[in-house]
Order: sequence, then structure tokens, then C-alpha cells
Amino acid sequence: MRERTPASKRGPAEAGRPADRIGSGEPALTSIGRQPASTAVETVQAPPAHIAVVMDGNGRWARRRALPRHAGHRAGVRAVRALVEACAERGVGILTLFAFSSENWKRPRGEVGKLMGLFVEALQREVDELKRNGVRLRFIGDRASLSAILQARIADAEALTCDGDRLTLVVAMAYGGRWDIAQACRRLAIDAREARLDPAQVDIDTVRRYLELGDLPDPDLLIRTGGERRISNFLLWNLAYTELYFCDVLWPEFGETHLAAALDFYAGRRRRFGRLEEQGDHRVEKC
Ligand code: FPP
Repeated sequence: MRERTPASKRGPAEAGRPADRIGSGEPALTSIGRQPASTAVETVQAPPAHIAVVMDGNGRWARRRALPRHAGHRAGVRAVRALVEACAERGVGILTLFAFSSENWKRPRGEVGKLMGLFVEALQREVDELKRNGVRLRFIGDRASLSAILQARIADAEALTCDGDRLTLVVAMAYGGRWDIAQACRRLAIDAREARLDPAQVDIDTVRRYLELGDLPDPDLLIRTGGERRISNFLLWNLAYTELYFCDVLWPEFGETHLAAALDFYAGRRRRFGRLEEQGDHRVEKC
């Protein structure tokens, strides 16, 4: 990753603040880079503030090369590195990656063991550079189900990078959307029982606070590689109004041009959040 520019010298989107909005009066970014905005509204879009990714296709990538599945996962880590760098460069504030689902525990023991080893190794290798580059790491998922060593690495990485203000990298590990909603209900019910919460006051924002993403804004764009068109139990609550982008490229091959295509798709979306078309231009607005 390139060395980071100090926060004081960066623009609003780079500094991790909400991305530019059309008509905000601030300089806008194009959908494919950081050139100055042209006057044509159609081609000038802010990047999504939050991108979520289902990284699918490592196994097939390896099989096509007559390599073991593990080689595909290793190549997948390299693609993660490139994506983190590209998102930081483009002013995306939050990147959430589905690294290991609640359901992935059902894979053969050998593959699960190697994946867990890869996570420990990647954390150890990358965390210092992530810190140097202003990336804040945050983990979501059932961390109690992970090995003691991985839990320790996760806690260390979160503590070491806690002041990163350029990009928040959320890694979903042992995560499932249904598990997330269930754990939120459980904690909420306990707080109600202990009189820390009035059940009559529970609303959408209350539930959101108990979910794993907590105070982070919902993803604006979900990218899924590998050809499947489904959510696979990822952020079920938080994807309610997310734009969904599916592509056939296998995860280890996902690079700059694929990200640019996903951002172009996003830039062309009209986000109405339940309102009417005539209530305004909603291409990048939030409710
Ligand atoms: C899906 O491909 C991928 C996974 C289950 C693991 C994803 C993990 C990584 C990319 C490792 C790096 C992640 C981090 C955050 C360090 P698949 O095995 O289901 O592929 P297939 O559908 O082709 O079999």
C-alpha cells in the first residue's frame, strides 16, 4: 500500500468523512478516479461510503490451475490487499469483507484449519502496514467460536489500529446475518430484563445498535464475485437498501478494473429509499 497522506492534507472523502454529494457545493469525485469533477452531473458521482463484499470463487480459481483449494484462498488474500488499497485511494470510508461465514464451519476440517491459519498469518503480516496507512480494523462475528490465538490477534489488531481514520476495514469472521439478528435479540432481551432498556421504546434504531455493525452506516454497495446471485446470509438487516452488484469474475482475479465497473454500476443507480422519483434526484442520496 502506498504511504498515506496526512489527514490534514486530505479531502473530505479521503479523510473518512461522508462522501461528497451532488449539489453539496464541495468538489465531487468521478466514478472512476479522483479527477476534478466535470460539469456533467451524469458522469460525476461520489464513491459509495460503505462497500460490502462477498468474496467467492477462490476454490474454482485454484481448481482451474490444478492447485489445492488453499492456494485459491492465498490468492484471495492478495486480492484483499489490492482492494483495501484501491478503496482507500478512492475515498471509500468503510469496506466490509465476508471472510468466513457461520456456515463455512461445515467445510472439511482440513480446509477450515488452513483458512484459520491463513487469517492468523495475514493479520500478523499486514497489521503494521494497515496501521501506517490509516486503516482501522474491526471484526464482526461470533469471535468466541474462533481459536484463542485468532481471538488474541483480532483483539491486538483492533487495539493497534483503533485511531485509523482513512478507511475502516470490517472483517466478518464466523459471521451470519441470522446469527447477528439472534445475538442482538438475546442481548436486547437481557437488557430489558435487567431494566436497562424499556421494551416499549424498542424501535429500529434500538435494534440496529445491538447488531454487529452497530453505529456504522449500512453498506451502499454490495459486490459479490464468483457468479452466484445471492446474499448467503451476509448482513441481512443492513443490506435492506443496499445496491447489489454481482459479477462472474473469481475473487482472486478481482482487481482495479472490476472495482471500477462496480463503481460505475453504483454511480448509475437511482436510490429512492421508498420515495417517489419526482421527489428529486436520488442517485447518491441517503434518507
Ligand atoms: C469463498 O471462496 C471464499 C472463502 C470462504 C474464504 C474467503 C477468504 C479469503 C479470501 C481470505 C482472505 C480474507 C481476509 C480478510 C484475510 P470459495 O472457497 O467458496 O470458492 P468456490 O466457490 O470457488 O469453491
